[in-house]
Amino acid sequence: MSEKLDHITEDSIKMLVDQFYIKVRKDPDLKPIFERAIGTDDGQWQPHLDRMYDFWSSIMLASSRYHGTPMKKHNDLPPFDLSLFDRWLELFEETARDIHNEDVTAHYKDKSIRVAESIKIAIRRKSGKVV
Ligand code: HEM
Repeated sequence: MSEKLDHITEDSIKMLVDQFYIKVRKDPDLKPIFERAIGTDDGQWQPHLDRMYDFWSSIMLASSRYHGTPMKKHNDLPPFDLSLFDRWLELFEETARDIHNEDVTAHYKDKSIRVAESIKIAIRRKSGKVV
């Protein structure tokens, strides 16, 4: 993208989520975890993408559209190496940077790191490890 967006809209969130999960679905380490939980077909993925549009809209635009339980969802996944959160965050930041200017990218980065930390704490608690 040549012109970087300096603001966030529902459309830019869709673009970000769609492009991010295209990367996730190609990543050798993340792909199997997601495919096992969601499936391999676009039709199976759309409900996940719809939830993620709502999630990011709630966080970035305060739309209050998301009513899910992300901690529980991740806790219910088969155990995976928590270092994969770094890869997730790297791909997410890369996607934000493809679309947005530095300020907006930094905002997304900050929020994604905070949520990732909360999810990791919840997973570690569940598996009995000290946080
Ligand atoms: C390595 C890191 C991660 C993995 C492997 C992962 C995996 C998954 C999977 C497989 C699902 C679908 C669960 C299902 O529908 O059954 C999911 C849902 C979700 N993930 Fe993640 N995730 C990761 C990190 C994150 C991070 C960092 C965030 C937020 C910044 C996040 C936010 C969400 C949300 C909001 C949902 C939807 C939960 C719902 O159904 O309401 N995930 N994740």
